[in-house]
Amino acid sequence: MNYLVANWKMNLPPEGIDAYMEKLRASRAHAAPMIVAPPAPYIRDVVTRAGGHVVAGAQNCGDQKSGAFTGEVSAAMLKDCGAKYVIIGHSERRNVYHENDALIARRMAMALESGITPVLCIGEDLREREAGHVARFLADQIKAAASPALESGEVVIAYEPIWAIGTGRNASGTMCAETVGDIREALLRFWPARQATAAILYGGSVTADNVGDLWSNGRMNGFLVGGASLDSSKFLAIYDTMRPA
Ligand code: PGA
Repeated sequence: MNYLVANWKMNLPPEGIDAYMEKLRASRAHAAPMIVAPPAPYIRDVVTRAGGHVVAGAQNCGDQKSGAFTGEVSAAMLKDCGAKYVIIGHSERRNVYHENDALIARRMAMALESGITPVLCIGEDLREREAGHVARFLADQIKAAASPALESGEVVIAYEPIWAIGTGRNASGTMCAETVGDIREALLRFWPARQATAAILYGGSVTADNVGDLWSNGRMNGFLVGGASLDSSKFLAIYDTMRPA
């Protein structure tokens, strides 16, 4: 299954949620859904304007079911709001807010138990890539986040090299193809039930200009888009590139 995810981060589209969602809804659909992940207070606004090939997602979920966890929103609450997907372990969560592997694994389990599809972000920094340790680094992240006992529901993996996020420097299609292979191998070892079924996305400075090479050569199932997702026309140009010939 292919996907295109809009990660608005802590931003709103300058054209406004109404106009943005209207343009997405009016676009010509193909098999891949577009998942729009706004800041949490706007999830319902996105849900009520979604439909068809446009669905709502969230940017994080709590690692517990309920209780005294100020600032957290549970996966069940997100589901209740109508979010179908949740981004987990984004590098901004890992690096800026110091979320560790154990916390990310609990968030993953909560999403799967609540019936909301996790989009697990993994990715190396430049040092790991230059040292040739990418496969090992990603395998460690997958091992840490996997819940082999939880077999129901889908899992989406977003490969987001840290050196490519918001930097204007994107991975090439060939580099992605190789890394997607590494990720499938790691899944085979640490989460075998997901080896064939998990969708693998790429994220990191994806734009309408560079998506052609990534999509034709990268062997991935779609994209997680930050900056270029804030403008409906730019986002839809990426969606159109993914249209089957
Ligand atoms: P970017 O962000 O497209 O702005 O690089 C991607 C992401 O962080 O999900």
